Amino acid sequence: MVQYTDDLKEEIRSANDIVDVISQYVTLKRSGRNFFGLCPFHKEKSPSFSVSADRQYFHCFGCHKGGDVFTFISEVERVSFKEALEILAERARIELPTSQNAEFNKTQYLKDRMYKINAETTIFYHERLYKPLAKIAQDYVKQRKLDNNTLKAFKIGYSGEYNELYKHLKAQGFKDEEILATGLVNKNDRGEFIDRYRKRLMFPIMDVSGKVIAFGGRKLEQNEKLAKYINSNENLVYSKKKHLFGLNLAKQSDSKRIILVEGYMDAISLYQRGFDNVVASLGTALTEEQGRLLRKYCEQVIISYDSDSAGQEAIMRGLGILEAQGCDARVLQMEGAKDPDEYVIKYGSGRFNMLVDKAISLVEFKIKMLKNKYNLENANDKIRFLKEITQILSNVSNKIEREIYIDHIADEYNISREAIYAEVNKALYSEKVTDKVLIKPVVKEPKSVEISPAVIKRENMIIYLLINHFRESFEHIVTHITLDDFKVEENKIIFEKILESPAEDSEKILQVIANIEDPAIQSHVSEILVTDYEISSVEKCIEDVVTIYNKDRLTNRKFEIIKMLDNSSAYTKEEVAKLEKELNEVIIELAKKK
Ligand code: GTP
Ligand code: MN
Repeated sequence: MVQYTDDLKEEIRSANDIVDVISQYVTLKRSGRNFFGLCPFHKEKSPSFSVSADRQYFHCFGCHKGGDVFTFISEVERVSFKEALEILAERARIELPTSQNAEFNKTQYLKDRMYKINAETTIFYHERLYKPLAKIAQDYVKQRKLDNNTLKAFKIGYSGEYNELYKHLKAQGFKDEEILATGLVNKNDRGEFIDRYRKRLMFPIMDVSGKVIAFGGRKLEQNEKLAKYINSNENLVYSKKKHLFGLNLAKQSDSKRIILVEGYMDAISLYQRGFDNVVASLGTALTEEQGRLLRKYCEQVIISYDSDSAGQEAIMRGLGILEAQGCDARVLQMEGAKDPDEYVIKYGSGRFNMLVDKAISLVEFKIKMLKNKYNLENANDKIRFLKEITQILSNVSNKIEREIYIDHIADEYNISREAIYAEVNKALYSEKVTDKVLIKPVVKEPKSVEISPAVIKRENMIIYLLINHFRESFEHIVTHITLDDFKVEENKIIFEKILESPAEDSEKILQVIANIEDPAIQSHVSEILVTDYEISSVEKCIEDVVTIYNKDRLTNRKFEIIKMLDNSSAYTKEEVAKLEKELNEVIIELAKKK
């Protein structure tokens, strides 16, 4: 029997995004960093099944099933782990070795040779850019204001004449069939081998891991007959639908957003000016595969297409694809330049950054498009406009988000808030749209009426921190907060469990919590996990929470002592003196914390 290697398992795992795979079985909705839906493994009415895109892991708080993409398929399809692997390989069109197929090994070998050819070619072109014969290319990069760091970061190059690359690759020992497979060289009718890219500025296209998989070549001559760009055709290692130019660099950025541009030059130019989070689509409208890639590496995508070329339709479609996948997608609006490259050269990176921050959502974008259709000075048009935006707004499932839009629209288009609310509510409560209401986490009545919402929220957040940021938070929390501080019974039980078996990472903690066989606890946990606590700095958040508890404790003690002192006849002189001293210290301590 064939053993699959770990490498192959990894390849299959990474080719099958868990959110994507599970979406074929379960309707998932995003909430914060996770996706939620109704568990396919047991009957339930409210969603306790969660999928983490970051961790590529699923977990059900109701029936406790959890694991990776292989586990999911083997559970849902009721097959062995090995069969699950085969299903997923098939899904990703990854060929598996079988004892009879020599074909497989041949293909793997050819792919490997193609990667080597691409790597060799990248060096060949790049080194060539620095030679005297590359003057035209050197002048061009100067004119486009690219500096040397940028040329190095993107390994930009200059392609040769006639068959220089072919000769070079042959000298390196590559075979004709291997070279032809990459598309870097073509064979003409006369049987001659001719380089595909000649005298062009070369942009290597890399996959997420940084392996060169294709090239784009820009013409340098002012020759109208030449295509501006020649790009690699699809081949064994390259599919333009599945990759994004620059993602290998952008994925390393600390930013949670990625700026999506159209051209190689836009991505490169922005990178040079401090934006390390830019990718370019590869001459296609955004595809679902690319959307998935983006979602994997960021939370927010800023679409920054050229101001003229890309039709509004293309932007709308891109936004739609991204939003359907749970990405926060926005459109950057640019005036005074045709593309991001021109803009950032003309106005500088500060101004471009402002545009990034001001990018608008799909809803705002749609409304803006609508506005262009109507003349709002005209009463009839205004009514029609209101009707249409009502449609758009009633599809916004989040109430707060909807209110923000309504406020915004009322101001921007000079329509009364009340009128918009009235229309939207009418649409919302008509039967048609009732199914669009957001999945609401189970919010339970607090057991004791005395626990304030602020306390509940604070406690829940502590549990959230312990689950999601265990390493940073555990020490700090246990030194300052005790079991008795917890007011909500469920939180107390969960905290106790975590104290009993402090696991090292989130997955293990989830497992520990999953072992508490109490539905009330499970729904409480899923509630915590679906809540967005808007934590921007984990450290600061922990510090704030701890401070509040310390303050509470001191305040309680203060009142306790005051009460005791009121009743001072019950104490000896020494005791009173001791209490007064403590009261002083407590008051000073409290003052320091203000
Ligand atoms: P510059 O014009 O040099 O600023 O390049 P750019 O990167 O800004 O390109 P542009 O905005 O004109 O086009 C966007 C992308 O579409 C390019 O990066 C290419 O991927 C692709 N593209 C542009 N022109 C052509 C062409 O003539 N043929 C092909 N196949 N692709 C093209
Ligand atoms: Mn351009």
